[in-house]
Amino acid sequence: MEITKVGIESIAIIQHIAKITWAIAYKEIISNDQLDYMLDKMYSTESLQNQIQVQGHQFILANFENNPVGFAAYHTKSSIPEKMIKLHKIYVDPSQQSKGVGKSMLQFIMNDISKEGVKYLELNVNRENKAIAFYKKLGFTIIAEEDIPIGNGFFMNDYVMQISL
Ligand SMILES: CC(C)(COP(=O)(O)OP(=O)(O)OC[C@H]1O[C@@H](n2cnc3c(N)ncnc32)[C@H](O)[C@@H]1OP(=O)(O)O)[C@@H](O)C(=O)NCCC(=O)NCCS
Repeated sequence: MEITKVGIESIAIIQHIAKITWAIAYKEIISNDQLDYMLDKMYSTESLQNQIQVQGHQFILANFENNPVGFAAYHTKSSIPEKMIKLHKIYVDPSQQSKGVGKSMLQFIMNDISKEGVKYLELNVNRENKAIAFYKKLGFTIIAEEDIPIGNGFFMNDYVMQISL
């Protein structure tokens, strides 16, 4: 498997993996209306361009035998004074999950940000998401709960999880 940093040229691939992954991961957690709303807000071409070119989100793609099987996105600048980096997204094609792709992407990210003297990697995850077990397995712990309004009357009901590097 190969993991590479990518930019706006990979937007269509990211959108494809997000769509097939979200449909399964969130179908019993949020309503279809909220799912469509969030996908549009976070994965429209305009939104992804803004994340990459304005907000400084670094996207990576995992390829297996030249096929894209997962992506992740993280901030490249740490907050001061905590020296924390936010992991924004990590998704693996449902047909390729449980084969080590997610773990490899997290290891790639932790290796990349440790060069910058970063102390923590932090993420938000829905409190009903099975991914919590994946994060715990890799050493993350829950440090807070957050209910974040995202417009249209929808909320993200999240845990904040963190790992020390
Ligand atoms: C969560 C996700 C990124 C994990 O990636 P993955 O490639 O399936 O996971 P890996 O195969 O790398 O698993 C790594 C370890 O975590 C464990 N693990 C993975 N998913 C798990 C789960 N649901 N429950 C318990 N353990 C889990 C694996 O057993 C493995 O342990 P090991 O190292 O001892 O073998 C992926 O399953 C996914 O995209 N899920 C749906 C979308 C999602 O919820 N993303 C997170 C949004 S916050």
